Amino acid sequence: MTTTLPLEPVTDRLDIGNSFIAQDWDALTFKVHRSAYRENAVFNRERNEIWGHTWLYLGHETEIPVNGDFKTRTLGGRPLIFVRDSNGVVQAYLNACPHRGTILCRETEGRTKNFQCFYHAWTFRNSGELAALPDSDAYPTDSEFVDSLSLRKVPRLGIHEGFVFIAFDDTVPELLDHLGKAADFMSMTATIGKDGMTTLPGVQKYSVRGNWKLAVENAMDGYHFAPTHNTFVGYLRETGFAVTDHDQYAHDLGDGHGLLVLTGHNGRIGMIWEPRFGEAEKIRTESKRAEMAERLGADRAATVADASRILFVFPNLLLFDLEALTIRQLEPVEPGVTDVRAWQFVEKGEPDDVRALRLKTMASFVGPGGLATPDDIEAYEAVQRGIFATAGFDSGDLDWSDMSRGMGDDLTGPRGRSTDEGAMRSFWRHWSKRVGEIAGVSGEAK
Ligand code: FES
Ligand SMILES: [Fe+2]
Repeated sequence: MTTTLPLEPVTDRLDIGNSFIAQDWDALTFKVHRSAYRENAVFNRERNEIWGHTWLYLGHETEIPVNGDFKTRTLGGRPLIFVRDSNGVVQAYLNACPHRGTILCRETEGRTKNFQCFYHAWTFRNSGELAALPDSDAYPTDSEFVDSLSLRKVPRLGIHEGFVFIAFDDTVPELLDHLGKAADFMSMTATIGKDGMTTLPGVQKYSVRGNWKLAVENAMDGYHFAPTHNTFVGYLRETGFAVTDHDQYAHDLGDGHGLLVLTGHNGRIGMIWEPRFGEAEKIRTESKRAEMAERLGADRAATVADASRILFVFPNLLLFDLEALTIRQLEPVEPGVTDVRAWQFVEKGEPDDVRALRLKTMASFVGPGGLATPDDIEAYEAVQRGIFATAGFDSGDLDWSDMSRGMGDDLTGPRGRSTDEGAMRSFWRHWSKRVGEIAGVSGEAK
């Protein structure tokens, strides 16, 4: 298996930043205090220190392909309008009327040149300027005042390979600096289609009664795959596909980003054929692989195509580049509630029968009613319920969750087995530095 990730010497990436984490390098143990999943004070600190001060995944530019197309969605609790303006520029505005703060656009999606507030009918162009002000003679007419009534843009907007990110803090580093090593794995995904990639219309939306960090842990956790998804594993075996956990790795990509590289459960539409995909797809996969090798070069094509990947981009983007390709976005609502949105990401110009197979495959596993996702949701909802059992039990390690598995590998480099918990530890170390101490809440350092 090829990977672009060399082992690197140990650096201060192994440090932690608060006492929610108990890390013992002699005993090789790593524990997380369960208050981190359930306390309002932690949630509020995260909203400020993480969601308020880092790049957040907003959406893909192919969701709004035509001038005037818009979507509304909420990130970090702030309602937003994601729109391609009449000049073709991708914009993100706070979805609050500059007049008195009313939610301006109350549709989830559409196409428009103007947004009109229902309260007093102020109207704004999709490029943000005020277009109409009823009874405007009662207002000052100087341009400074009129300009101040424009839609509020988010302070930063950046696009990498069509993935649109925003930040509510204009001092954040450049987007590519934030993405770091994660950027190239997004590029790999974007180069799969020779004519490009696009999201499909429609979004899968669901709410989970669990803390958002449990969704991150679950996605970076190869250890749970065989026991939790035993129905799916059995189904794969029946279709003639052997599943293994060997030679699969989890990578710490730095700055809280993580990556699982999976070869043991590796059927991917157009990349790696499995019997359940049918004979026609086998022939198409061979020609697709040949096309990629010619276009990208043999080595790069092999890196893109030979393994499934789950990429986590801190703090709210998951790319499931396995089976079909799913973009998933996390939006924390309360300490114990997370909204999830997911889109299918497909090759432009894909034949209809392949598209149908892709959607069926996605729906059977990663989709909200598939053989995997309901298992995963049950797992993190069960964790969320269970972590209240030990609340307030301050002695010993009763109120701590264990993530020590395979910790010795953290000392040799940023790569460990996918069935260990290294990608979770790297996430939590970064999280601990962003959140810092919270008086009266953090667990006592062990
Ligand atoms: S609050 Fe929107 S026009 Fe008054
Ligand atoms: Fe799972």
